[in-house]
Amino acid sequence: MKVVGPLIVVVLLAALAWCCTEYLHWYALFGIVIPYVAVVLLIVGLVVRIVRWARSAVPFRIPTTCGQQKSLPWIKQAKLDNPSSKAGVFGRMVLEVLTFRSLFRNNKVEKRDSKLGYTSAKWLFLGALLFHWSMLIIVIRHLRLALEPVPDFLVVLEQADGFLQVGLPLLYISDVLIVVGLVFLLARRLTIKKVRYISLSVDFFPLFLLLGIAISGIVMRYAFRVDIAGVKEVVLGLLTFHPVSPDQLSTILFVHLFLVCVLMVYFPWSKLMHAPGIFMSPTRNLANNSREVRHVNPWNYPVKVHTYAEYQEEYGEKMKSVGLPLDPEVVSTNG
Ligand code: HEM
Repeated sequence: MKVVGPLIVVVLLAALAWCCTEYLHWYALFGIVIPYVAVVLLIVGLVVRIVRWARSAVPFRIPTTCGQQKSLPWIKQAKLDNPSSKAGVFGRMVLEVLTFRSLFRNNKVEKRDSKLGYTSAKWLFLGALLFHWSMLIIVIRHLRLALEPVPDFLVVLEQADGFLQVGLPLLYISDVLIVVGLVFLLARRLTIKKVRYISLSVDFFPLFLLLGIAISGIVMRYAFRVDIAGVKEVVLGLLTFHPVSPDQLSTILFVHLFLVCVLMVYFPWSKLMHAPGIFMSPTRNLANNSREVRHVNPWNYPVKVHTYAEYQEEYGEKMKSVGLPLDPEVVSTNG
């Protein structure tokens, strides 16, 4: 059920958008109202989650380290794996975000000749890299729907992405790779027993949702062509707060857009928040320099305390009357 349930939900969501636009003609709802509501909910959700993270105390430096710490001058420090400066933290973060460096180290325990040993496991790294990079390229390419005139860098990106020159319209490599990446990530959760055991519906739902978005987009580009000029008019209308009627758009576009809206609303409350979350993670954004600099929680606020001196000042008489000892060091202001 934890696999089939999320799949059914995504199929039902796609069917809902299809039926409401194809048969009920609720174009304005699906082409204007829902996209605006989704963007507002996305922004509110992101702000709430980020403010909550930002307010949590960071009493200690807890960077994850896996190399030699900065120490004596003749001991070589692992500057990226155990950064002691802001530049080191920045370098490690950039490499982590762009190349998923920590996933590259992924390994698994295996029993060989009745001995346990670690072997490298690079498939997750490769699948994650494929999916995230192709999604990024696709989202950047979509900017042509929102920018007039289309900037040169987007034209270059489109040409590079379609350089295999297969078929017409040109096949984008990112379209193939996003599906391969997502299917791999799904297959990994389904086929590896241990991963399947710990996987929940919330692990499958985003994969099916993203597959739904990618497949509906691919269908639009390679099977049922949509009127790109019309889509652009609608998108520009939404962005400039002068919405134009989306009546003439094809049904498959509404399905694609609705699934994107669901993703926007779902994003802030899901595990997908790991994307902005990594920048806020104290295990990643702090330098390991506890021995050089005293760490003070940057969010520290003055805490109201009640000292023993104030306590004795307040209750001294009562304490004396019941025979409790008083601290003679505390000088009473009452004399
Ligand atoms: C998470 C966001 C989105 C993802 C991952 C996504 C994914 C895709 C994919 C994989 C394609 C196939 C063709 C291509 O790669 O260009 C596509 C096509 C398309 N998408 Fe999206 N999409 C997203 C958001 C949107 C939004 C907000 C719109 C606005 C209406 C949109 C409109 C379109 C259109 C019109 C096409 C057809 C392009 C063509 O025929 O060249 N997409 N999308």
